[in-house]
Amino acid sequence: MDFLDLAKSRYSSRDYRAQMVEDEKLTYILEAGRIAPSANNTQPWIFIIVKEKKGLEKIRLCYHREWFKSAPCYIIACGRHDESWKRSSDGKDHCDIDVAIATDHMTLAASQQGLATCWICNFNRELLSKHLNLPEIIEPIVILSIGYPNDKADMERHRFTRKKLDYIVYEEKYIK
Ligand SMILES: Cc1cc2nc3c(=O)[nH]c(=O)nc-3n(C[C@H](O)[C@H](O)[C@H](O)COP(=O)(O)O)c2cc1C
Repeated sequence: MDFLDLAKSRYSSRDYRAQMVEDEKLTYILEAGRIAPSANNTQPWIFIIVKEKKGLEKIRLCYHREWFKSAPCYIIACGRHDESWKRSSDGKDHCDIDVAIATDHMTLAASQQGLATCWICNFNRELLSKHLNLPEIIEPIVILSIGYPNDKADMERHRFTRKKLDYIVYEEKYIK
């Protein structure tokens, strides 16, 4: 598939079928995350797959939306602040950036496999860390819901839902 078509086919699905995601597809998606670039190649991430009933129930306590319960599987992308690259000039931690790139790879790989996803960051971090047994240094950054979608999105919606190129692109320098 043409890259732009694949990128346009990804959307935030907020309604899933009960059908479980096949292990081969999950492995494909996780491999797409594994090979993502990262600052200084530190790969400061871990991915936690949750698909068993008990685990699903716990994840759903961390983000209260009715639609969220329909996802048969979640990948929680976590950042390892003990492994991430910090810029020497100002100490900026690149953990979030790296985890976001890996997560984006996974959303695109899922779309390519006929699956849908939704990024969720508006969760209760404390509760999620507790349920996943995470130490403070490993931060849960994104919950990615994954499944076969029960909803659809218009491939052409970006014409209306995204800023125009001439608003976001500058030549040579920013002009007020
Ligand atoms: C970093 C990030 C955090 C997000 N957090 C949430 C969230 O907590 N809940 C939610 O329903 N959607 C969340 N979204 C989905 C966005 O709302 C969605 O990507 C955006 O509206 C564009 O729509 P689209 O993904 O269908 O193209 C998040 C997306 C990103 C990239």
